[in-house]
Amino acid sequence: MPKVLITREQIATRVSEMGKEITRDFVGQPVMLIGVLKGACLFLSDLARQIELDATFDFIAVSSYGSAKQSAGEVQLIKDVAGPLQGLNVILVEDILDTGLTLTFLRKMFEARQPRALKIATLLDKPSRRLSPIQADYVGFKIPDEFVVGYGLDYAEHYRNLADICVLDDIPGK
Ligand code: IMP
Ligand code: MG
Repeated sequence: MPKVLITREQIATRVSEMGKEITRDFVGQPVMLIGVLKGACLFLSDLARQIELDATFDFIAVSSYGSAKQSAGEVQLIKDVAGPLQGLNVILVEDILDTGLTLTFLRKMFEARQPRALKIATLLDKPSRRLSPIQADYVGFKIPDEFVVGYGLDYAEHYRNLADICVLDDIPGK
């Protein structure tokens, strides 16, 4: 069974703080949250409700040709946002920043659309695993090199609905 690393109460407290940070940084301006499906879905839902601004949101999806536990180096957009981003304050919302390859790809792609601002909010950060030099502007929790599930994060699509973030340490081949 997965063991709890970050409790639902800790998540709620930190997400509320992150919402306050974003509210303060963009005071008086609208923001658009762009969530990366499916992992960031629950985080975005909670974060959006902690942002006291005119906030809209949309979702994108990227392909993952890697294994169940690691993203592939090549990233492909398989679902895009509905409208243009020019002049908007965009916050990319991710579940976890691991090697950084996914967000490096997404940041470059979205920067080309000329938003007014482009920020990255990630619930989790595993800095020790980085292959691409990228940092998030808003980080929920820095975690060690452990494979985690819950609160949106999956192992082969399972465990996304766990309310706490848990470590999965009984996977064959780990
Ligand atoms: P990156 O391109 O390596 O930064 O990949 C980030 C993506 O890999 C995340 O959006 C997750 O889908 C997946 N990922 C990385 N580490 C974990 C983990 O510990 N648990 C679940 N998914 C993970
Ligand atoms: Mg995933």
